[in-house]
Amino acid sequence: MQLHLSTWPEVEAYLAKSKAIMIPIGSTEQHGPNGLLGTDALCPEIIGKRAGDEAGILVGPTFNVGQAQHHMAFTGTMTLRPSTMIAAMMDWGQSLVHHGFERIYWLNGHGGNINTINAAFSEMYHGISFDEAGGNRPPLRCMLRNWWELSGVMDVCKQLFPVGEGNHATPSEVSVTYFGYPEAVKRVEMTPKIAPSGPIFDAEDYRRRFPDGRIGSDPSQASVEAGEKIVAAAVKSVISDFRQFAAS
Ligand code: NI
Repeated sequence: MQLHLSTWPEVEAYLAKSKAIMIPIGSTEQHGPNGLLGTDALCPEIIGKRAGDEAGILVGPTFNVGQAQHHMAFTGTMTLRPSTMIAAMMDWGQSLVHHGFERIYWLNGHGGNINTINAAFSEMYHGISFDEAGGNRPPLRCMLRNWWELSGVMDVCKQLFPVGEGNHATPSEVSVTYFGYPEAVKRVEMTPKIAPSGPIFDAEDYRRRFPDGRIGSDPSQASVEAGEKIVAAAVKSVISDFRQFAAS
């Protein structure tokens, strides 16, 4: 069940049964020569949508631009300042709380978002403590889950891609997007086959070290079939993870 494809009476009826909602959150940033710019937003969206359809979970719109300053030397990347992202997440959260939601499960697709998401949670909780008018409101609880950390998912990824998974523009994440959007599959030759690994600092430094955008990965292995297996494992796990959180 997706919020943007529901009517207000349907959301009202959902709230009578559950006060929990899932929000996919990601980034719009380069993902190497064959990875889609939307990869980190599409992965949690694809997994979230299927979990929502299968288990009747309400899934909100995808928060699809995040912390991507370090990818800004690659065309098409979009980023938010941390303060902007925190402010936007606060308003998304407050809107939902206003209608009676008490649990927001943020399904994240981008490692670079983690610090800022946790800072946004802290801002939301401060708001509840400091805002006198909100004193009688039921407590809001937020949870962050990175999709690749859902139980069982990494096992499937390691089995599919024992070599060349790497850290950025991985064959696993690219496969998930290819499964969701088979019409967007790209076939690109990559040299070297496995990209170099190492630290990153800022955008210009990133591009100097990793000229095609990949870090440690060989995403030419990505396929629709692999994506289907990863998504199946993630959907199964996210449903039970969300239900546990909703009941907390
Ligand atoms: Ni990614």
